[in-house]
Parts: sequence; C-alpha cells; structure tokens
Amino acid sequence: MLVDGIEVEADSRDNLIEAARRIGVAIPYFCYHPRLSIAGQCRMCLVETSDAPGRLVPGCQVRVKEGLKVTTNSPAVKDNQRGCMEFHLINHPVDCAICDQSGECKLQDYYMEYDHQPSRIRVQKLNKPKREIFGPMVVYDAERCIMCTRCVRFMDEIAKEPQLAVVERGSHSLIATFPGQPLDSKYSGNTVDICPVGALLNRDFRFQSRVWFVNKSPAICAGCANGCNVYAESRGNVIYRLLPRRNEEVNQVWMCDEGRLTYHATNDKRVEWARTGKGDSAASVGPRIAVDRVVELLKPLAGRGGIGVAVSAQCTNEEATAAFQLGAHLGATHYFMGGQRAGDSDDFLIRADKNPNTAGVRLAAEAFGVKLHDIQAVDQVKALVAMRTDGLLPDRLGHLEVFVAISQNEDAASSEAHVTLPCKSVYEQDGSLINWYGRLQRTWESVPAQRADAAPGWSWADGILKGLGASGLESAAAAFRALAEKSPHLSGLSFDDLPEDGIVLEGLLPSEWPARAPRPAPGAHSVRGPQTTPPGTKVGDEASGGSR
Ligand code: SF4
Ligand code: SF4
Ligand code: FES
Repeated sequence: MLVDGIEVEADSRDNLIEAARRIGVAIPYFCYHPRLSIAGQCRMCLVETSDAPGRLVPGCQVRVKEGLKVTTNSPAVKDNQRGCMEFHLINHPVDCAICDQSGECKLQDYYMEYDHQPSRIRVQKLNKPKREIFGPMVVYDAERCIMCTRCVRFMDEIAKEPQLAVVERGSHSLIATFPGQPLDSKYSGNTVDICPVGALLNRDFRFQSRVWFVNKSPAICAGCANGCNVYAESRGNVIYRLLPRRNEEVNQVWMCDEGRLTYHATNDKRVEWARTGKGDSAASVGPRIAVDRVVELLKPLAGRGGIGVAVSAQCTNEEATAAFQLGAHLGATHYFMGGQRAGDSDDFLIRADKNPNTAGVRLAAEAFGVKLHDIQAVDQVKALVAMRTDGLLPDRLGHLEVFVAISQNEDAASSEAHVTLPCKSVYEQDGSLINWYGRLQRTWESVPAQRADAAPGWSWADGILKGLGASGLESAAAAFRALAEKSPHLSGLSFDDLPEDGIVLEGLLPSEWPARAPRPAPGAHSVRGPQTTPPGTKVGDEASGGSR
C-alpha cells in the first residue's frame, strides 16, 4: 500500500495508524490504543483513502488493504485535525499549570503540532467535577476528560472488572464509577497511564514532581515473583513513581497497583549509615570500620560450626551468590531463606510470592550445594550473617552471639544486629533476578544518586571476604560469573550481555500457567536451554535443547 506516496509493506491485521507508523508517519489519535478494542470516538485519526474519495475515514478503524492509497497530509485531513482539536478544547479548562499530565499530555503535544491557533471560544466553559476520588489510586477530573473511553475499555477488556462507565450525554458526559462502588481493581493505576490527558491521575504521584524533572530508567518491579518490567522515575536519590515498561512475555504493557507502590521502601525508613552495636550503644561508623568489626567478630568463629547465613528472596542473584560464598568461607553449617510473606494472586500478573527472586536464590543455593531452611529456624545457630533481613523475627535473634545484618530498611530485626550494613535496594543496583517462570532479567542502578553509605549486598560481602583473607567479588558481573561457573542453567552467560528484555532459563519453566499470564511463545528467541558445555564451546541446537 502507499502512505503519502511512500510504499509500505504492512500486516493485513494493521490498521492505517500502525501501517503509517512503520515508515515513521504519525497519524494523531486519542482514543485508539493498540491493546484495546477500537472505539472510533475521537475522530483525530481521520485520513483520506483511495477507497473512499472525497470522504475522511478513521485510521484506527480501517484495515490495511493491498494497493490502498492513504493520504495523511491533505488540506482536508489537516482541516479536520484543527477542527477536532478545537472541539476537544471547547470545554477543556487548559489548566496545564496545575495539571500533573503537563509535559506528557497528548492535548498539549497535538495542540502544538496540529492546531496552534488562538481560541475562538467566547462563551462560558462547562464546569464539571474537578476531583472525584475514584478509588485508592485514582482521582478523576471531569473537565479535562476528552471522553476517549480508553479507561472504560481497559477495565472491561484487560482488568476484566468493568468498574467505569460513561454517564450523561453530549458535552455533559463524564466517566463515573457505579454508585457506592469505587474503582478498586488491583490494576486501576493502568487507567492513569493510558489516559491521554490529565483527567485520571495517580493519587500517589499527584503534585509530587513535574514529569520533566525526573530521570527515567529501566528497572524490574520488586513487588512479586512476576518481575514486571518497569521504569523507575527518580530525582536525586528519591524515586517518584514506577511505570510499566513493555515486555510482551512478562507484563505486556501493564503492572499492578501494589507493584507501583514498591518504590516507597527505597525512599523511606532506610538504613543509611553503617553502625556497630545496638540499642543505646549503637554508633554510626564509616564503612571500613564496620567491615573491620564484622571481620573481628566472625574470624574467631570461622570453621568452628554454629554459623548461619540467611538470604532473603529479595536479594539479587549477585547478593545471594556473595552470601553463599561468604558462608562457604566461614564454614557455615546452616542456611536460611527469608523474604516477604506470601499474599494474594490472580490469573494475570499478580503472583502470591511477594519476592522478586525466590527462583534465583534457590538456583544459587543449588549451585553452591546448600540446603535452605525456614528462616524461623535461626535459633539453631549462634552467629548469623543476614543478606537482607526480610522475614527475620526479632524474638528469634536475642540469643545470637554475633549477628551481622546487611539491611535495606530499619526494621525490628536490624535493630538487633551487632553490626548493621546499609544495603542498596533492587532499584539502586546492577544485578539480576529470576522471575517465577525462570526468566533471568537485569536490574540496573536506576536511581543514579547515592544514598548515604548504602552499597549492594554483594559489595559488603566482598569487603568481609577480603578482610577474612579470601578473594572477594569485585563487581556484580564478577558475582554473576561466580554463579554462572557453578550453575548449568547459567553457564556460558555473561552479565554484560544479558538482553534488556531478559532470557528464559528453559530448565526452570513450570508445567502449569495461570490462565492469562503472559508467557514466552514456544521456541521464542528468549528461551534458552540448560548449558552443559563449557563456556566458549560452539553450542549447537541439540546441546541447547533445540530452543535457540
Ligand atoms: S478519563 Fe482519560 S482515559 Fe478516561 S475517557 Fe477521559 S480522557 Fe479518556
Ligand atoms: S504483578 Fe508483581 S511484578 Fe508486576 S507490578 Fe505487580 S507486584 Fe510488581
Ligand atoms: S483514534 Fe480513531 S477515532 Fe480516535
């Protein structure tokens, strides 16, 4: 087909918007969303085609056809775009100065691109509700709403909880919840993301920051074992919000509300500085002094039995590896697995395991040949090193002669530690995680600014190992390499070459899947079999399970 005279090879399932996008021609749209049904509501996408001369047709609704000629820049199309913008703005308050969407608003962008004329409106604009609390996460401003119905369709078609509807008629129409029923779906935050204007806003983010002040970096949600791909938006060392990042095989383009809030643990109640002692005798010390103190406490006990190592399922693979390596050097006799308590789940994205790396910690334990015990059994040891303190109960720690906590947040367990070392969050460090179905995914230092003396857990272990006279782990890549050398699932993989959208460890794939959970297609490029050949050996299809 031809778009503005340029030949385009398109998929017969494409609409004209997607076909034009293939050659970089932008047909503007408000109501179209590639993941939702077609509403044909906003009329912004009208174009001319050879099939309907003299008439404008919606680019969102019309499908590609062999030989079709599409014109997106004729005077009639441009006229419609200007007219359309004028209609959309008739009752719009244009309160960009106090609107959170400002800077990422389709109305602003399209006004500059397709309209750019002074307002001709000389009548009073309609007043509508300005701050309807729709639910725990979402607030609605009816004056800004352009009635594209994306939010309504999302709730019907993706969340499968039809909690929103259009009420009233004509220019009085607005979006509403049903009487007495809030928008309390666990996916409600996605309506804010897909609202093209500032009508639906995230109550957690509202008025916190202008969007152009934040640094947007890829990250992985730490809220559950699904490992949704996200962007972390931060300024300084503070995260302001998480937004979903596209990964068809993990979260498509969505995420859950609980996951959106997981960044708060990176901002609040942090262990900022290393400290020795507890209670009244606790004192902040420099990182070197803290590590020296750990070495001083652990050295006499090394190899004598009674040492335990606790690893949280919130750890990255690199932190878990460093913990097991330290345990091996100390001659630890017991290993424990901690983590956040299990919670709710569904058949789409939300997993009951509220830890991002249970599979990775188990894989690392298997690689080091250690058996993981329940975290509540820590009373069996007299000295404990905890790589993150999730799940540790303070009343089980009182008897410990030595307790070293590498801890992200101040909690009851870290207040019992003889030495506490501040740990970076998953959003603040380079690392890797393995999700519930075996997808190995990278994390990055998504928050660039340093928070006090916080360091990745593996780097604290590195310092302690070196203090004990062993060789340490110089970097996250070195820690990953140490693990990959021991685990057949990872052998031959290199940290720096892990693809941004992750890689599936075929040996970990489950046999059962929740009904709507996104999953890799059989034989997808991301799926990789367990490697049994040494790194560097040319691996054929057979050796890798025929999945490459
Ligand atoms: S609230 Fe937003 S997404 Fe919903 S109809 Fe209005 S403009 Fe569209
Ligand atoms: S489903 Fe899990 S990984 Fe995805 S956003 Fe929610 S908590 Fe995070
Ligand atoms: S995008 Fe086609 S009518 Fe709205």
